[in-house]
Amino acid sequence: MRIDIISVLPEIMESPLSHSIIQRAKQKNLVEINLVGLRDFGIGNYKQVDDYPYGGGGGMVLRAEPLATCIESLYTQHTYDDVIYLTPDGYLLNQKIANQLSIKQNLLLICGHYKGIDQRIRDKYVTLEISIGDYVLSGGELAACVLTDTLIRLIPGVLGDEMSALSDSFQDGLLAPPVYTRPEVWDGRSVPEVLISGHDQKIAEWRLDQSIARTRKRRPDLLNE
Ligand code: ADE
Repeated sequence: MRIDIISVLPEIMESPLSHSIIQRAKQKNLVEINLVGLRDFGIGNYKQVDDYPYGGGGGMVLRAEPLATCIESLYTQHTYDDVIYLTPDGYLLNQKIANQLSIKQNLLLICGHYKGIDQRIRDKYVTLEISIGDYVLSGGELAACVLTDTLIRLIPGVLGDEMSALSDSFQDGLLAPPVYTRPEVWDGRSVPEVLISGHDQKIAEWRLDQSIARTRKRRPDLLNE
């Protein structure tokens, strides 16, 4: 998979996209991430990328011309399966959308900043608009990192143990059950006996019960009851 990300502040994403599982996926050539600085496509001597919104109101809006020049220059080198704009007014990201996107080959992500981007860019180029939650971030960069991370861990071969993405929360529509590791007793608290019983079926049943109980308590909206 190739992910190109356009941003006014690409530096914000350098560290989150250079460690741990993402770094290993890059080293295994399972993913290529290309951060593109919008300022390089800015207008005039000051490389202007934003301006005041028509109709008034606070904040600045990213202008259409630098974004279009940037996108068109990327189009000369690549085609994209989806052009995704990260925005709080987009479709709410969930595991189902992540699963669908994880099988794409080429994605272009656009990070807004300030009050967002000129609507005409959304109309002309964007094929999918995604929000990572019902709250407003200062820009789309952290949202782009969240989306990138959630996609990369789903690419076959990225996680050492293929099962671990499958047992993530949400993969089966439920929250994940509690997990424990050594020691068996810590602070007077014991690991649930079933987990050290060696009885695979009982362990699977216990995990499912725990998942259902946790989901019912914390996210009843996920259960069709
Ligand atoms: N940009 C600002 N807030 C955002 C959010 N919640 N999701 C995606 N992009 C954003």
